[in-house]
Amino acid sequence: MLNWEDPVKQFKSSGVQQRATAMLATEALAAVERVEARVQSSEPRLVNAVPSATNEETVPEDAIGVTGLEQVEFGAKRLAVDDKQMINCRADVNQLVPFKYKWAWQKYLDGCANHWMPQEINMNADIQLWKSTDGLTEDERTIIKRNLGFFSTADSLVANNLVLAVYRHITNPECRQYLLRQAFEEALHTHAYQYCVESLGLDEAEVFNMYRELPVVHKKAQWAMRFTDSLGDPDFHTGTNAANQRLLRDLIAFYVVFEGIFFYVGFVQILSMGRRNKMSGVAEQFQYILRDESMHMNFGIDVINQIKLENPDVWTDAFQAEMSQLIKEAVDLEIEYAHDTMPRGVLGLNAAMFEEYLHFIANRRCSQIGLPEQVPGATNPFPWMSEVIDLKKEKNFFETRVTEYQTGGALSWD
Ligand SMILES: [Fe+2]
Ligand SMILES: [Fe+2]
Repeated sequence: MLNWEDPVKQFKSSGVQQRATAMLATEALAAVERVEARVQSSEPRLVNAVPSATNEETVPEDAIGVTGLEQVEFGAKRLAVDDKQMINCRADVNQLVPFKYKWAWQKYLDGCANHWMPQEINMNADIQLWKSTDGLTEDERTIIKRNLGFFSTADSLVANNLVLAVYRHITNPECRQYLLRQAFEEALHTHAYQYCVESLGLDEAEVFNMYRELPVVHKKAQWAMRFTDSLGDPDFHTGTNAANQRLLRDLIAFYVVFEGIFFYVGFVQILSMGRRNKMSGVAEQFQYILRDESMHMNFGIDVINQIKLENPDVWTDAFQAEMSQLIKEAVDLEIEYAHDTMPRGVLGLNAAMFEEYLHFIANRRCSQIGLPEQVPGATNPFPWMSEVIDLKKEKNFFETRVTEYQTGGALSWD
């Protein structure tokens, strides 16, 4: 009998090889028989090895979604658009079309149309300014260093959550297509922060360890970790109401809070610097990142609302109260971050303005997912931020250059 613990060299012995071949043949025969039985009964399911579930309630076998790595069922019924579901889908997830969620595909196309690379941005002026002794105040230097410290690991955290936790549970191919694009954008963001650190000659170890060494940065990262732990558990499956809520909670924590609230003090601070012609290369990197992040958040909000629509039982009063509390906690943490990164007024900004701004954006995030506003009447002290988010890449924010990104069709192979 084959044993997975056996050393690999055993497979070289002809006896084992023959037995393994015989087993494979038996399994293949059994698979064909299963397929034939399915074709005869016209059952539209894939041949699916259902993994075990460890939720409080047992997840029923037919509630567990497919991963896309199941055996391909020959002759199975063709996919219809109504077979598609955001979570717990039993239909083939390897077929991108027909589209059910056209907004997800559109966001994928928009993301590709906004492609950029960190090295395209000229960092020379930033390097000169950073090295000069009188160009920047200590408070301005703190803002640059703290934000590079927070973001350099935050985007890796988001990417890991996306690829190792969220992706598995979203059972829709057009949304997965966007998730793959988003994952690459997160890699670009981490690259951009690394590129800034390298260009300015900052202490890499200090910056990349900040989320383990500086309390205010650590707190935000730590807050998010509890929401990725459970989904990353290989035994976790959606399919019960409690498990579906667990996924929804993680999506709200990452898309609405982490990418939708925890990034915004840093974005405003760095972009304010760029508006004053200071560190304009770093600011330009952040500007492109902000535009990507705003799309990530909007995609996440659409996914959250679609899950609510398809699974109305998840959106209980108790769950809504819990989510409101979560967002409130996050706003308080981000206010603390604003105070810590900006102990005094700088660049025409102060911590009180950030409190107002965070209440304003939290109100918007809450209403986008159907929760009541937390501080009704909060106003936006930084109206220019929405202009930055909407800016097209080819209209450069600082008018330092115009970038034409070459698409595949324009490349010359000679
Ligand atoms: Fe990012
Ligand atoms: Fe993101």
